[in-house]
Amino acid sequence: ANLGIVIPAAGQGKRMGAGYNKQFLSLLGQPILAHTVRIFEESDFVSEIVIVGAEGDIAVIEEIVTQQRFKKVVAICIGGASRQDSVRAGVRALSSAIQRIVVHDGARPLLTLEVFHRFIEETKEYPAAVMGIPVKDTIKEIDSIGNILATLPRDSLRAVQTPQIFDREKLEEAHNRAASSGYCGTDDASLLEWMGYPVQMAEGMQGNLKITTPEDLLLAEMILENRQRADSR
Ligand code: CTP
Ligand code: MG
Repeated sequence: ANLGIVIPAAGQGKRMGAGYNKQFLSLLGQPILAHTVRIFEESDFVSEIVIVGAEGDIAVIEEIVTQQRFKKVVAICIGGASRQDSVRAGVRALSSAIQRIVVHDGARPLLTLEVFHRFIEETKEYPAAVMGIPVKDTIKEIDSIGNILATLPRDSLRAVQTPQIFDREKLEEAHNRAASSGYCGTDDASLLEWMGYPVQMAEGMQGNLKITTPEDLLLAEMILENRQRADSR
C-alpha cells in the first residue's frame, strides 16, 4: 500500500485543561503527538504523513518532527476551527500520488502497529472503513429536558475510533460537499454516510483511547507501562 496519513492535531485541548495543546503533554517522557506520529513512521504501508496544527503550534510541531527524526512527514499545515476543517486542510497537503488516506487523531497515541496493519488488511476492499468497539454502558436517547426517549439496542452500537480509511476521491468529495453546504459531522466517516456512501465497521482496539481528560492521560501511562513491561519479558 501507499497510504497517506492525515493527523488532525489542531485542537485546543479544552477538556484537558493544560492551558495549551494537550498533544504536547508528556506521555512517559515523549510528547503525546510524537507517539502518534511514530506509529505511522514505522509502518511500511505508509509513504506520507501530514500533521495539522493550530497556527500558534506549528513551530512546536516542527521541533518535535526534527527532534524525533521523522522522515515521512511531508507537511505540517494549519488547521481550522473544527476538526473537519483541519482534516480537509491536511488532505490537500498530500501529494497527488496518494490514492488512499488514513485519518488518525493526534490524541490517540496508543494504537499499535499490529492493530493498524490488521485494520488496513481487513478493510482493503472497502472504499471507506472505520474501527469501533462494543459499548459497555447502556446508551439512552434523551430530549432537551432529560426525558428518556429510547434505550438503544446495545448489540448494534459501536464506539467509533480512528484510524479511519478512505479512497481519496470519496473523502475529498465528501469534505468538499460538506464544506459547501455547511454540514458538520463529528468524524470523517459521517460525511460519507451523509452522502449516502457505504462505510464499513471493523474491529477496534480497547486500549486505543483518545486522550481527552487528565484521567485519560493517567490511564494511557498505565497502559503503555504495562505494554513495555510485557514486551521486556
Ligand atoms: N482537532 C483538530 N482541529 C480542531 C479540533 C480538533 O485537528 N479544530 C483534533 C485534535 O487536536 C485531536 C482530534 O482532533 O487530535 C480529536 O479532537 P479532541 O479530542 O476533541 O481534541 P481537542 O479539540 O483538542 O480537545 P477539546 O475538545 O477538549 O478542546
Ligand atoms: Mg474537540
